[in-house]
Amino acid sequence: MGHTDLTYKVLFDEFEVASIVAEPTLNYTLFEAEFKNSQAEQIKIFNKLEQTLPFYNGESFRNQVHFQFAYQTPVQRWFPYREGYSIKLVNAFIKELKIKGNTFDPFSGSGTTLLASRMADLNSFGIDVNPVSVLAANVENEQYTPEDIIQVEEESKKLTNIEKSKEIFQTSFDLANKVFNQDILQALLQFKQHIKAIQHEKTKEVLFVAWLSIIEDVSNIKKEGNGIKYKNRKRTPNGYINIEKERWENEKFPDNKFSFVKTKLSNRIEIILSDLKFAYGKCDKKPNIYKGNCLDFEKFFSDEIELTFFSPPYCNCFDYFEIHKVELWLGEFVSDKEEFRKLRNTGFRSNTNSLNHKPIIYKNEYLENLISFFEPQKLWNNNIPNVARGYFDDIYTLLNKLYQQTTKNGYIGIVVGNSAYSGVIIPTDSLIAEIAREIGFKVKSIFVTRHLTTSSQQKQELDYLKNYLRESIVLLER
Ligand SMILES: C[S@@+](CC[C@H](N)C(=O)[O-])C[C@H]1O[C@@H](n2cnc3c(N)ncnc32)[C@H](O)[C@@H]1O
Repeated sequence: MGHTDLTYKVLFDEFEVASIVAEPTLNYTLFEAEFKNSQAEQIKIFNKLEQTLPFYNGESFRNQVHFQFAYQTPVQRWFPYREGYSIKLVNAFIKELKIKGNTFDPFSGSGTTLLASRMADLNSFGIDVNPVSVLAANVENEQYTPEDIIQVEEESKKLTNIEKSKEIFQTSFDLANKVFNQDILQALLQFKQHIKAIQHEKTKEVLFVAWLSIIEDVSNIKKEGNGIKYKNRKRTPNGYINIEKERWENEKFPDNKFSFVKTKLSNRIEIILSDLKFAYGKCDKKPNIYKGNCLDFEKFFSDEIELTFFSPPYCNCFDYFEIHKVELWLGEFVSDKEEFRKLRNTGFRSNTNSLNHKPIIYKNEYLENLISFFEPQKLWNNNIPNVARGYFDDIYTLLNKLYQQTTKNGYIGIVVGNSAYSGVIIPTDSLIAEIAREIGFKVKSIFVTRHLTTSSQQKQELDYLKNYLRESIVLLER
């Protein structure tokens, strides 16, 4: 493990990490002879890759790299985005690095980096490929005048007076009848139709985001792990059982489904209104948010950036479109399978649905060595080696472009987790640092914020390597 002369004396006071020492606190010097199979070989690779990298104990950030607190944070709670991090985290980096120039988030999600930048009075740019996220980020970052707030209040009152319609509403979402109770689905579609007809644009969007944000709660599914799971499928000591849909729905939802949906929607709008009235609107700098592929970011803006702060998809096959598919379909962001497939293909190459047959140009020797330890019979998809290659090819392209558009002495902060396939760790944090160095960045620090868990099948295999399954913040300087 490398050594660095950084001291971070006053670093991030509020996170109490001033005690971070120049010496890395992690010790991976292990006795190779003890390891089975490829583990000794993997450790050799990690030691070589990481020996000159400046690792720090970043545990004080552990609760800020995920969305746990953001569920209660004003504005961020309008559309709880479980893949997001906290405003406080971004704010700490903006303060510590004394950022005065532009900021950028190439994977802006629900817009946390943009919100933090806005609160610090900075100009910011954001891109996301998922239209649901782009809408949520735009609504959360909009400027609302007192007149706008009155409009939201009035439309919210109108909504509480709506009665159940006799009309039968249609959707192009083919799983709708499985994902929802029939009456709940009809109530959701009726409210959607009502909201879409609102004339005042900002109010329409606020209410639409509120509507999107209650979908999961009133549905039969939940976002879990790498996809969506049916709530009526329960784990028991003897394996999974499916509770019959109708019985489960009757037990779970009240008799009056229409008023159930209306109450959920009204409650969410109440929360938004209270944030609009009391906690918001201090800063004039509305971020610039684009829908698209961040690998083309230079096509959207050419301004120089002082801090790019982001969390990319991890190299773990998590599919953002799959996890948000109910909102995408029911919200009419996609209307047929071809459109959905095309959207998936514009995503970062972090999962098997996004490979897009794009050529892999960047090659990394550490990565190739690690991939050579994959045991094909244990991989659940033959394309996983190409997911890993495609992922770092995309990382290389992005960092290269960021290098061109970052001010001298500007920074890049990347929140990222490592992953594992068939007992082989992909140390994404140190590979990103290595690639960044090749491009010309200085690697200032890698804060290890927490250790991650893996699937039970891999747990035993990874026993010796579990320290490498971590979530870190990689800080680079141009
Ligand atoms: C970890 S989340 C970011 C969450 C965000 N930091 C927040 O706090 O809400 C990663 C995001 O990357 C987006 N994404 C995936 N591929 C992308 C691409 N090629 N270009 C832009 N965004 C992409 C996903 O839609 C997702 O919103």
